[in-house]
Amino acid sequence: MRRKLVAGNWKMNGNLAMLAELDVIAAAAAAHPGVDVAVAVPATLIAAAASRVPTLAIGAEDVHEAESGAYTGCVSAAMVREAGARFTIVGHSERREYQNETSQDAWAKAAAARRQGLSVILCCGETGAERDAGRAERVVQAQIEKSLPEGASGDWLTIAYEPRWAIGTGRTPTLEDIAAIHAIARAKIRQLIGAAADDVRILYGGSVTGDNARAIMGVADVDGALVGGASLTAAKFVPIIEGAV
Ligand code: PGA
Repeated sequence: MRRKLVAGNWKMNGNLAMLAELDVIAAAAAAHPGVDVAVAVPATLIAAAASRVPTLAIGAEDVHEAESGAYTGCVSAAMVREAGARFTIVGHSERREYQNETSQDAWAKAAAARRQGLSVILCCGETGAERDAGRAERVVQAQIEKSLPEGASGDWLTIAYEPRWAIGTGRTPTLEDIAAIHAIARAKIRQLIGAAADDVRILYGGSVTGDNARAIMGVADVDGALVGGASLTAAKFVPIIEGAV
């Protein structure tokens, strides 16, 4: 039985003052012990967030695949772990779009994070053009095939299906379309790692709000949500946690 996971992603938003939102989010998480709650924050806020709300899983939004070295501006998995991160997102579509990251990069980053004992949320999802061309399922299958790390297991790995055209747009796929992609994602993971696939959570991400969270997380094979905009305030994020109950 997979527990629901509601994960926030602050992206390049937030400052020390905004960490007050996490106090309320942590209280909501404590009030709903059947749901796992996590928030990925900018690297600059990880240490302060992790010490402020030790009961909440604080994570990074990305890590470099190397342990250390001459990579100006980058942050390693060891660094974010030392700062207090328990997990990291890898392969987010904004990294793919603006930093030209590939599924191969996501694979390497996931492996690096795992070596440091971090849990991983590995993202996949088609563009609007790919969906319009009827290629969404094939794109997601190929991304999972290329990025699923060695030793993948539900103990530390979560997949997030995030159609790019749904991120930050207020548009979401139909529940039928979400069900279809989650089913093919599950089948692909099963093909790669066998029965252990049944323990890997698959989140939906892209314009999740308090209004649609319950319906989306009620879809078969949807094990929670990855939430951007609506994770920035407790007022918007807590109803999503409640929608997972
Ligand atoms: P959104 O972002 O909830 O603002 O659409 C989701 C994501 O990018 O993880």
